[in-house]
Amino acid sequence: MITSKELREKWIKFYESKGHTNIGAVSLIGDGTTGVMFNVAGMQPLMPYLLGKKHPMGTRLCNVQGCVRTVDIDSVGDATHFTFFEMMGNWSLGDYFKKEKTAWSFELLTEVFGFDKEKICSTVFEGNNAAPRDEETASYLKELGIKEENIFYLDKSNNWWELEGTVGTPCGPDNEWFYPRHDNPCCDTCDVNCDCGRYVEIGNDVYMQYKKLEGGKYEELENKNVDTGFGLDRLLLFLNGLDDGYKTDLFAGAIAHLEKASGKQYGATENDTKAMRIIADHTRTAVMLIGDVNGITPSNTGAGYILRRLLRRAIRYCKNLGIPATEMCEVAKIFIEKIYDEAYPLLVEKEEYILDEITKEIKKFEVTLAGGMKEFDKIINGMQRKNEFMSLKDPAYVPETEISGKQAFRLYDTFGYPLELTIELANEKGLSVDEKGFNEAFKAHQELSKAQAQAAKGGLTERTEVTTNYHTATHILLAALRKVLNDETVMQKGSNITAERLRVDFNFPRPLTPEEIKGVEDEVNSVIASSIPVTCEEMSVEKARAEGAIGVFGDRYGELVKVYSIGTYSKEICGGPHASNTNELGVFKIQKEQSSSSGVRRIKAILTK
Ligand code: ALA
Repeated sequence: MITSKELREKWIKFYESKGHTNIGAVSLIGDGTTGVMFNVAGMQPLMPYLLGKKHPMGTRLCNVQGCVRTVDIDSVGDATHFTFFEMMGNWSLGDYFKKEKTAWSFELLTEVFGFDKEKICSTVFEGNNAAPRDEETASYLKELGIKEENIFYLDKSNNWWELEGTVGTPCGPDNEWFYPRHDNPCCDTCDVNCDCGRYVEIGNDVYMQYKKLEGGKYEELENKNVDTGFGLDRLLLFLNGLDDGYKTDLFAGAIAHLEKASGKQYGATENDTKAMRIIADHTRTAVMLIGDVNGITPSNTGAGYILRRLLRRAIRYCKNLGIPATEMCEVAKIFIEKIYDEAYPLLVEKEEYILDEITKEIKKFEVTLAGGMKEFDKIINGMQRKNEFMSLKDPAYVPETEISGKQAFRLYDTFGYPLELTIELANEKGLSVDEKGFNEAFKAHQELSKAQAQAAKGGLTERTEVTTNYHTATHILLAALRKVLNDETVMQKGSNITAERLRVDFNFPRPLTPEEIKGVEDEVNSVIASSIPVTCEEMSVEKARAEGAIGVFGDRYGELVKVYSIGTYSKEICGGPHASNTNELGVFKIQKEQSSSSGVRRIKAILTK
């Protein structure tokens, strides 16, 4: 049995013996230069050097670099896909090329790791307009002793490596290494091209000699580089004669814990096995992202949102497995304390913080899940009722089995359900979700928000006449309170206006007496009846203050503010809008006077015509 710790060391030692310098790993969070959110490959931080810049540590480099790839997230749950993995890498920056590289990869695989050269398969680039067929690499492979029938020429979709969605980045044809997980072909033509999963890619050597330009064009680089990446997690599986990555030492502790907590056996049923894999994989990635030097926390945007989705997916699978989601913290502890303590000592330092962030997200998600569950059930029940009703009426009726895009969007927008969650919940009930419809609703909503934000910026926020009147009544009420209670220190502490009522909080040490309430009402109604014009003036903060206006003062010197005056009765700094005359307001009536918090009272009042 070779452990993950030993494998890391073997990789580095081997390449050091070939003149490479270990440059160590960098943060998992993308540095923003490529537009890629996470570090998805060991070459990412080396981009400028692959393009020609001189690296301070020389032309032969190696390391073991953590990577996060979420594009394959749907494959996670099988035996060989992970969202976090470590890539063992080495590079030639304009130094050695194909001859040396094929020889070293072969030596490492056969002599250091003991792979059977009879079984090793290798794929090379078949050639296109951008780059020639890679006969050169193939000839070295044959010389090394790889069987001719185990060498395959494949097209760009297989044997070309570049960072998706980027421009100006290095790329090139690659030579991929495959090994069979077992010796039982599924059919007569079972080879690396077969999708039965017997052959797994264990690593690749990219011959990076091109730069990717706009419009799918490539430009030859001055340097001929090599960029090698071998997945530590996968290699570990082969080296230990396993056919499942979750049985290696990286995951064994986590899986054993999940077995114990659930009382279920890993491998016994497909569903439980998948759940254990997803919980273990996603928890590991979350630990790495939160505990990174540039650590992130769950949020609703960007990388934070991906982290949130990973955690929430894992939480859901805890429920499926029948264990409390807090078990994820126990799983996290195993990764931090037992598996990655040496390679990632920062995780140990940040342990408490990491566990705290996971716990917080579990709590938040519980609230979200519970809030939307009622709505989700309502959708399902409604669909069932409709289906039953329609089938009775028309025996040929085809029952609905799809949650509409609008419904899924409401679950997202109002209840915080990510689309994946709705899909998973729907699938559990044998239903699907109109994903296209969801995306349309999402886009329509985004456009509407954008338009509203622009309108708000331009001061065009729509206020109805009713809410405008309530706004003016609030100003009068505050002035009336100061007058009737004979207390100049009464200030607004909060305000909330709907089309039905106003609500204002103000500082005052005791409940108002019924007489005072009546007095305030009468005072407000007499101001309304006096038909006082409401005027607005723009002035500097200093002038507003000097004139005795109340309200929130901006603290920037010379800042211009709007001051609304109701005759000499009230003068407040305020954004408006307001009624133009108090006589537009109607009859004012206090409905409730109550405590809001210590030393703060709350009044709810209405206006009637
Ligand atoms: N850049 C190559 C990969 O990520 C080595 O597979």
